[in-house]
Amino acid sequence: MRVGIIGSGSMGQVHARAWHALGVEFGVYSRDAERAAQLAAEHGAVTYPDLATLLADVTVVDVCLPTYLHRETVEAAARAGRHVVCEKPLALSNEDAAAMVQACEAAGVRLFVAMVVRFFPQYRSARDLVQAGRIGTPRVLRLRRVSSPPYGGTSWFADETKSGGMILDLMLHDIDYALWLAGDVTQVYAQTTQVGPRQYAQAALTHVSGALSLIEAGWAYPDGLFRTAIDLAGSSGLIEWSSDAAPPIRTWGGPAQHAASEVSLPAVPSAADPFVLQLKQVLDALQHNAPFEVTSEEALGALRVALAVRESARSGRAVTLEAVK
Ligand SMILES: NC(=O)c1ccc[n+]([C@@H]2O[C@H](COP(=O)([O-])OP(=O)(O)OC[C@H]3O[C@@H](n4cnc5c(N)ncnc54)[C@H](O)[C@@H]3O)[C@@H](O)[C@H]2O)c1
Repeated sequence: MRVGIIGSGSMGQVHARAWHALGVEFGVYSRDAERAAQLAAEHGAVTYPDLATLLADVTVVDVCLPTYLHRETVEAAARAGRHVVCEKPLALSNEDAAAMVQACEAAGVRLFVAMVVRFFPQYRSARDLVQAGRIGTPRVLRLRRVSSPPYGGTSWFADETKSGGMILDLMLHDIDYALWLAGDVTQVYAQTTQVGPRQYAQAALTHVSGALSLIEAGWAYPDGLFRTAIDLAGSSGLIEWSSDAAPPIRTWGGPAQHAASEVSLPAVPSAADPFVLQLKQVLDALQHNAPFEVTSEEALGALRVALAVRESARSGRAVTLEAVK
């Protein structure tokens, strides 16, 4: 198996390190040929002069390009019969995303959408606890993800026609997580404030189950800051974690009512790097024809809700979503 990474920016570099840690051979193609050459040299990898050469040489394409280039690249990879890893968000519209999923299905190749938050130990541990019934039925999920604008607000990220904006690019992570924990959503309502590339938003998601997710996300904070937090309230307990505090995450309630307990997490050595864990699951899926945890339907679902949140933030009105068939 040989992977062709496309893009040598922040995600191209992170994916290159992860493939290297997994002992998978890879090559790189990027518009930034100098950075691609550096990256390849760091990992003893090859570079490709263009997309066609990469497609001819690899079995898996790893798309680490700006979001507006995802559709054409994924479709080219599918046409060439290559399996595809694609960074999130899958695309900028529901139509583009559906076409990409369709193209991969028609070509008989696997599509792995890189929703890395599911592979972060704290997020996984909290989800496992919910699945195990530790807090009863999830009722209120509060999720937070705030950082500075990528590249100080000077890159393609700041152009909503290229990145989808903060809600599609950043809040999407927690929207996917909320759907993973509490299921489909029927209505969203959001408010946002924006000054130049600095944007902050708060969204309320009403799940079919009746649970409510309150998601806060922002590219509004000072440079270098990146904070995330989870607060889950269920019918019989609570789970709490914040990046401001070191693990372990804390739970209250569950079988021993009112008794505070701490669920220790494994230390996080490089083998538990979420990006490595994510690509390890891709590797296993390809080698053993095994499922990948993030299905295409889930990636489409998270994008659909993120687009509805963005629409609500723009209009200031709640947006109702049709039930997923
Ligand atoms: N999973 C996460 O936590 C996470 C974090 C950041 C970004 N992302 C996503 O990853 C994707 C890439 O983001 P990034 O931060 O790596 O962006 P980036 O700007 O750092 O890197 C983009 C790379 O693509 C290259 N490129 C641009 N146009 C090209 C073209 N036409 N042909 C070939 N190469 C081209 C650039 O030279 C650069 O190397 C985006 O979809 C973004 O939303 C995900």
